[in-house]
Amino acid sequence: MAKETVVVVGAGGIAGAWFPALAKEKVEVAAVVDLKVSSARSRIKEYGLDCEASSDLKATLKKTRPDFVLDLTVPEAHCSVTSTALKAGCHVIGEKPMASSMAEARRMVRTAERTGKTFMVSQSRRWNPLHDRVRRTIKSGNVGDLTTINCDFYAGAHFGGFRAKMPSPLILDMSIHHFDLARFMSGADPVAVYAHEFNPKGSWYRGDAAASCIFEMSNGVVFTYSGSWCAEGYGNSWNGDWRFIGDRGTLLYEHDNEPRAEAVAGKKSSRPKVRPVKVLESPTKYTEMHGGLREMLAFLRTGKKPQTECHDNIKSLAMVFAVIDSSKKGRRVPIRAM
Ligand SMILES: NC(=O)c1ccc[n+]([C@@H]2O[C@H](COP(=O)([O-])OP(=O)(O)OC[C@H]3O[C@@H](n4cnc5c(N)ncnc54)[C@H](O)[C@@H]3O)[C@@H](O)[C@H]2O)c1
Repeated sequence: MAKETVVVVGAGGIAGAWFPALAKEKVEVAAVVDLKVSSARSRIKEYGLDCEASSDLKATLKKTRPDFVLDLTVPEAHCSVTSTALKAGCHVIGEKPMASSMAEARRMVRTAERTGKTFMVSQSRRWNPLHDRVRRTIKSGNVGDLTTINCDFYAGAHFGGFRAKMPSPLILDMSIHHFDLARFMSGADPVAVYAHEFNPKGSWYRGDAAASCIFEMSNGVVFTYSGSWCAEGYGNSWNGDWRFIGDRGTLLYEHDNEPRAEAVAGKKSSRPKVRPVKVLESPTKYTEMHGGLREMLAFLRTGKKPQTECHDNIKSLAMVFAVIDSSKKGRRVPIRAM
């Protein structure tokens, strides 16, 4: 089979997680593009690539005509980089979050439709066997019909860079993972949210680095979320700590440990007996960026739609912007993707 070719745009921190996956899959890197061409050159040297460094995306795409573009730029640049690539006739994998506003995200979805090209977002945490085990177990009904989800995420994260200056760094840059995971693991989609964003005293972020949110999801499921990037001490997993309550039992997924579940045994009474129930296995073999890349390669080879194709992923992004909107307005807001 002919090797697939890619142009990588953005040679910053996260590029270090993508080049090894591209090498494992023998994807040919046709060029690395970055506003700072020196960053593109250093990545080419670091990974021993035989390709050009450039700061001119349009000209590079015209010259190299890759099968797809990997957009690893900062969120504010996603709309222009991805739209340029789609219009040049390339499929795109873009880093999360899809865009830095809903208006941009909707424009990107429409550009994908108009150009007939596939645009998927890399939500790296979907490609994790533990998360797939939670998803399969909830779907199996082993804890009954899902009623309630809770996720807590606390870290004292000192990044500097774009995150220190952006508005809503927690919600836009990190909670997008948790919101997308809530959809992935529960199979429920967002309906409305009431949220409060805040910046704790002593915060080293300019924007709000903490939030508490109550989401109404489809099928009447309620999803409560508390998070902070500005919480020193007792940080939990970056995947978050999760509780899923069904009408017969509960599944816990905490500290990246194996998920565990228990459900009522026999008749419900005032103090019903519970027993452990089976947590299903997952066949997930390729994780994080490698998993996302495999979805793009499967699409190129067989036409199979990637699970985070933009029409789906925009629903996770809509949760992000609804939280920001609700917090500004101080009231519940409905969540609308398109
Ligand atoms: N999936 C994950 O777990 C994960 C982890 C970290 C970062 N990310 C995401 O990856 C993206 C990049 O993050 P990062 O930490 O690598 O940022 P970074 O600031 O380290 O790197 C971004 C690079 O993009 C370049 N760039 C910016 N605008 C550009 C443009 N218009 N054209 C070409 N190059 C441009 C910058 O010069 C820089 O080299 C963000 O969207 C971030 O949220 C995802």
